[in-house]
Amino acid sequence: MCGPARDPAGPHMSDSARRVLIMSEPAFLTTTRSAYDSVAEEYAETFRSTMQDNPLDRAMLDAFADLVKEAGSQPVLDAGCGPGRVTGYLHDRGLDAFGVDLSSEMLAVARRERPSLRFEQGSLTALEVEDGTLGGLVSRCSIIHTPPEKLPDVFAEFHRVLAPGGHLMLMFFASTDASQLAWPFDHKVTLAYRLSIDRVAALLTDAGFTETARLIEQPPEDSERGFEFAHFLVRRPPES
Ligand SMILES: C[S@@+](CC[C@H](N)C(=O)[O-])C[C@H]1O[C@@H](n2cnc3c(N)ncnc32)[C@H](O)[C@@H]1O
Repeated sequence: MCGPARDPAGPHMSDSARRVLIMSEPAFLTTTRSAYDSVAEEYAETFRSTMQDNPLDRAMLDAFADLVKEAGSQPVLDAGCGPGRVTGYLHDRGLDAFGVDLSSEMLAVARRERPSLRFEQGSLTALEVEDGTLGGLVSRCSIIHTPPEKLPDVFAEFHRVLAPGGHLMLMFFASTDASQLAWPFDHKVTLAYRLSIDRVAALLTDAGFTETARLIEQPPEDSERGFEFAHFLVRRPPES
């Protein structure tokens, strides 16, 4: 089952010890946390209905939810949950979903909007979740702020927490260019990366996942950046 801690420092740590822990974390986590803390309310309002308005997004999430339910009733993590919309969506489809995010302000929005659901502070890079205990994990636009050289560690972490047979759903700004793994871009909140579809697929294979499906969504006509979106559905093999 999931660890009891509400944040990586745990409930009994003193404020000074907590500050030391946060001060010793990699700089990209501190930067990402404070960037999302400062825009949480605005972000939640601006993107209130993007998932609900996008049938492709919903189709992939629905497929993910059905696959996880078919496999059993283990908990499902929305990793980098932001305002918790996907967590709520999955809960409403019958999953035991909970959310983790770096940003305490994002978590405050999520807890206010879905008070009956569980939201915890933590990082994709070191999840407070026991090995092999999740039926599913969804990461929607949250790996994009991780320096590309650290993605193998994040995918290894996702593999660690998923039960054998568990499903992983990833969504990210994507490119069909496989000449490199990532391209930084001027994301409005903080530094983010557009990722090569095929190179991410290879990293997921290296981490031990098998691919179930991928959907490459073309940018809408009025898209500001003209980036594709990739939705990946992969699985930790049942016998692993
Ligand atoms: C673009 S928002 C997406 C939020 C949500 N998944 C959605 O689809 O609405 C990215 C979220 O990922 C979180 N995030 C980024 N890097 C993270 C990390 N290493 N660990 C946990 N959360 C992270 C941010 O704090 C932010 O809330």
